[in-house]
Parts: sequence; structure tokens; C-alpha cells
Amino acid sequence: MVVTSQTAPPLPELTSRPRHVAIIMDGNGRWANGRGLGRSEGHRAGAEAIRPVIERLAEHGVEVLTLFGFSTENWGRPRAEVQTILRLGGEFIDRYLEELHQRGVQLRHLGDPERLPGVLQKKVRQAVERTAHNDRMIVNLAFNYGGRADIVSAVQRLIAEGVPAERVTEEAITARLATAGLPEPDLLIRTGGERRVSNFLVWQSSYSEYYFTDRQWPDFDAAAVDDALLEYAQRRRRFGRVLDDGSRDPGSDESGAND
Ligand code: FPP
Repeated sequence: MVVTSQTAPPLPELTSRPRHVAIIMDGNGRWANGRGLGRSEGHRAGAEAIRPVIERLAEHGVEVLTLFGFSTENWGRPRAEVQTILRLGGEFIDRYLEELHQRGVQLRHLGDPERLPGVLQKKVRQAVERTAHNDRMIVNLAFNYGGRADIVSAVQRLIAEGVPAERVTEEAITARLATAGLPEPDLLIRTGGERRVSNFLVWQSSYSEYYFTDRQWPDFDAAAVDDALLEYAQRRRRFGRVLDDGSRDPGSDESGAND
């Protein structure tokens, strides 16, 4: 994919890069409040922030991006706000599908489509079908997604398939999650200053590196992507093991934390 980020800073070199980045795009409401705008304007600005982030991550060679657009818990928001977010999801597809397709992006949907408005279901389905053969980068749009519901659905599938208890393994569950076949998120970014996972990819993020930033999502730009990836490159991932040099971590207090 030829990507031109006209206003982005020069691309920094990374010593290691994540294959899969997942993002909780938080802070749209506060971004709007801080400007005397309504929450809808915050979500609109948030939707506009997405494309430059996809571009920058593609420039860095990230293979998979998962965006938390609407959680199973977000139905509890005021009806008008729910409608705004879902409408923006559809508008995002209308506006960027062709461009993303030309650039080799494969769009996928994570979550239960059934409860989404019919018009959005159709747009999502068309976007997934149109881009199904692209292989430059996968962008998962999580809409009506919940991490626990994802696990429940995987277990239900195991039961429906008649898999015996002794063959219910971590691999068997992983293979039935919405993200089956994809690498687990290496880096999970949350904007907006909160430091929690909020039922996003709860199974898949067991060994993800978390990156929390106070920046509100609409302000998360190419330079912010670079900051997150540069920090990721500094992390030493152990997956519960010791490192090749026998240490747990430079400066570690050896307190026995199991990470
Ligand atoms: C969190 O901010 C944001 C959301 C719940 C919705 C995210 C939706 C978009 C960015 C638009 C459409 C999405 C796609 C994938 C095209 P918040 O409302 O919780 O902000 P606050 O914490 O400041 O109130």
C-alpha cells in the first residue's frame, strides 16, 4: 500500500513493532465538553480521527488493527447517543470503504450483528465482502462487541459441536473467538485517561502490553501513534517466562509477579 500522510511527522524507526494493535477510543465526550460542544460532535470528531490512525499504523507495518467502536454495554447510553454512534459507524463505511479497499485493507466485524440496525448490518456485510480478499492490513470494527460475550459464544459453539470436556482447551476456545486465526493483540491502547479494559478482547489481551494516554481520542493523531509504538518498542515481553539472559527484567524487584 502506498500511504501518504501529508501532515504526519517523519516515520520513526522501530526496533520492534506490534503485529496487532487494539484501541479503546475513549474521550470523545470529554473532548466535546471541553470545547462547549455536544457529545455527538465528539463522536463525529472521533470517527474522523480513525483514518489517519489506520494510515499511520499501516506505514509502520502493523498487520491487524482492532477498534472498539461500540460495546455491548454502550446500549445503556441515552438512545440518541446510541443512534449517533451507530450512524457514524455506517457513515465511516460509506465514506472510506472504497479508499480503504484500494489501499488493500480488509475490513472485518467483531461482535453480534443481530442487534445492530438493519441498515448498518447491511453496510458492514457489504464492507466485509468487498474487502475480503485484501491482504495488506486487517481492520476489525468491533460493533456490539463484548469480550465476555465473545468467550460465551465460543463455549456455546464448543458445546454445539459436541466437543468433549477433555478437548476443551485454550486453543479450542481461541479458535472459536471472533478473532480466530489472528495474532493476539500485542499492544492495547486506551485513550482518554481511564486505565481499564472495559470488556474489550479480555481473553485475547492476557499478554498484551497496555498503553494508556490522557489524550482524548479525537486528538490521537499520527504523532500519538508513533509515541505509542516507540514506547511499545521499549517494552520487554516475557509471557510469564524469564528472558534469554536469565533476568526477569532490568530493575525488576523479583517480587514474583507472574507476568
Ligand atoms: C468513547 O468515548 C467512545 C465511544 C463509546 C464510541 C466510539 C465511536 C466512534 C469513534 C465513532 C464511530 C466508530 C467507528 C469504528 C467508525 P466516550 O463517549 O466514552 O467519551 P467520554 O468518556 O469522554 O464520555
